[in-house]
Parts: sequence; C-alpha cells; structure tokens
Amino acid sequence: MSQGLLLSDGELEQSSVVANNTMNRERGLSGVNSYARELGFDPVARLRGLERPRWLDLCSGEGLALRAAAALLPAGAVLTGVDLVGPLGARPLPAGVELVTASLATWTPPPGRYDLITCVHGLHYIGDKLALLARVTTWLAPGGLFVAHLDPDSFRLPDGRSAARPLLRALRDAGYGYDARRHLLRHEGATDQPFVFPFTHLGADPDAGPTWTGQPGVGTYVQPR
Ligand SMILES: C[S@@+](CC[C@H](N)C(=O)[O-])C[C@H]1O[C@@H](n2cnc3c(N)ncnc32)[C@H](O)[C@@H]1O
Repeated sequence: MSQGLLLSDGELEQSSVVANNTMNRERGLSGVNSYARELGFDPVARLRGLERPRWLDLCSGEGLALRAAAALLPAGAVLTGVDLVGPLGARPLPAGVELVTASLATWTPPPGRYDLITCVHGLHYIGDKLALLARVTTWLAPGGLFVAHLDPDSFRLPDGRSAARPLLRALRDAGYGYDARRHLLRHEGATDQPFVFPFTHLGADPDAGPTWTGQPGVGTYVQPR
C-alpha cells in the first residue's frame, strides 16, 4: 500500500469494509455468540456490587449485551453503547440503556466516568486506533477496566511491514496489557491525561485484508517518532 492511497477516518467510514452489513453486530451478553465468550469474563459479574454501575460499550452494534445487562443490574445503572450505525432492528430500549449513533473518531463522552469500557471486535474498523486508545483510559473510573480486541499486525509501518512489536512496547509503556491468546488489550485503572503514543497516524488502509478473525479489517499506518 502506498501512503498516497491511505484514507482519513472520515473517508474510511464511507468504505465498504466499515459499511459492511455482514458484520456480527448481534453478540449477546452470554452464550455461544456473546460478550462473555469473546471477553473471557462476564461483564455483569464485573459490575455487580456497584451501586450505580456504568458500562460504556464502544462499537456496540445492536446493543444486545447492554440490553440484557439492564435486567440484571440495579436500577440506576448507566449502560451506554456507541456505534457508527444505529440499531438496525426495532427493539425497545430498557431503562438505563442509551445507544448513541456516532463515530468514535470524534465522539467524546458526557461527564461521568465508567466502571467498565468494552470494545468487542470494534477496533478492527477504526482508522486512528491510537487516538482512541490514548483517550479511553481518561474515561475510566478509578479501578475501572477497559478491554478490547486488537490485532497488533493491523498496525503498519510506512513501508507496509507490521508495526506490532513497537506498538506493543508503546502500549505496555501506557499501562496496557495484551493477552495474545485471546487477542485482548486491557487497561485497569483510570488516567488523568491521554497517553501520548510515540507514533504519528498516517492514515487507514481499507484493503488490508482479514484480521485473525478471518473478517476484513482496517490497516492503521503509523510513523514511529
Ligand atoms: C463486528 S461489529 C461488533 C458489534 C458488537 N460489538 C458485537 O460484538 O455484537 C463492529 C461494529 O463497529 C462499528 N464501527 C465501525 N467503525 C466505527 C466507528 N468509527 N465508530 C463507531 N463504531 C464503528 C460498526 O458499525 C459495527 O457495528
């Protein structure tokens, strides 16, 4: 891929890899096609015991996991999903659940931090992934957890080689842990300021090919600083 053909986040959102209606947007909370299965833990168990738990789900798809969680958590729980594409199915929204239609390239949360932030198979479609990973830890409550699927090989150097090694080093320096078996990135605890990653974002490649999931993903080109 030549750098001249890389897309901005705005252009990427119009591309067929992101506007792809065959994506799995219907994971539930538990069971075979679920958040519990993909994350390796039960999000509701993580939130149980908190008086007014707050869960933010990035790239929430149809919001099925949040909808199911609403029935299991105390009244007063805040369950917010954000997705570029609003819910396609006409389902009623339980109290406490809000599904925001917005791009994570530009969305910022309202005041109030979150006990849990998830991004289940969503980062694959984001262009400037590091801009989001820099900001998201400032949205966590003290002791809060952020967890997201990540394919480190989707990060590319200007010559097209994988940037996975320097990327993982920089993520560790920012306090992130990476579980390579589950392809899960995780950050426990809040930060006051966004982390400054030692990379410049060059643009996104919508034709990068499949991630480890077999589904097409977006290549993120970076220049180490
Ligand atoms: C594979 S689906 C996963 C949906 C949900 N997490 C699930 O597991 O059911 C990926 C989602 O990312 C959303 N997405 C892609 N680019 C986005 C962006 N820039 N901002 C917000 N959501 C985005 C897509 O609309 C899609 O719903």
